[in-house]
Amino acid sequence: MKKVSPSLLACDFLHLSDEIKKVQLAGADWLHLDVMDGVFVPNISFGLPLVSAAKKVATCPLDVHLMIVKPEKYIQAFVKAGADIVTIHVESTNQVSQVVSEIKALGAKAGLSLRPSTPIQAIEPYLDQIDLVLVMTVEPGFGGQSFRQDQVEKIDWLYNQKTQRQLDLLIEVDGGINDQTVLMCKNADIFVAGTYIFKSDNPKLAMDKLRLI
Ligand code: DX5
Ligand code: ZN
Repeated sequence: MKKVSPSLLACDFLHLSDEIKKVQLAGADWLHLDVMDGVFVPNISFGLPLVSAAKKVATCPLDVHLMIVKPEKYIQAFVKAGADIVTIHVESTNQVSQVVSEIKALGAKAGLSLRPSTPIQAIEPYLDQIDLVLVMTVEPGFGGQSFRQDQVEKIDWLYNQKTQRQLDLLIEVDGGINDQTVLMCKNADIFVAGTYIFKSDNPKLAMDKLRLI
């Protein structure tokens, strides 16, 4: 069964608690939290206090996507704040392997993500070590962008690796996901969607449409 991870970037922050409860009631599998530092990406979103606040009402795992430089400095703090899955960008540090080990040693699941311009081969050396790959189908930094179809081959490549090498690996896709674009991502396991879910009149139906492809 496919999973859905609504991105809180598109929610109404004034009513964070109600927004989280709304998507949980509608069947969210995970909650996706986009942390942006204004350096790795040209936008600043939120950080540790919001992760801690979300944890107070979360009944599903917190899926934290770190778009920050020097992620190694903050892993412990994000796990302590309540992150269950911590995904870092392969471009954001030269200590990828050490950071992944640290995330796992702290008891969280470790993910690696990559920008659209980064070849999937950048992730290859770590496939045995990580729990998840987050394939970006938009340039990281902002919600509400259009899905990049040219990134789908990364999902398919990962799916082949996973099958051939019998890897225990989850494939997550993030950016511009809706009931149409999801149809191109059938080889992914988890769909992140912000705008499509939070701006929908019927978040349950929206999530069901993603899950039941
Ligand atoms: C972009 C973020 C995404 C974003 C997705 O940097 O990683 O998670 O919130 O938003 P939508 O679904 O609106 O493209
Ligand atoms: Zn994200």
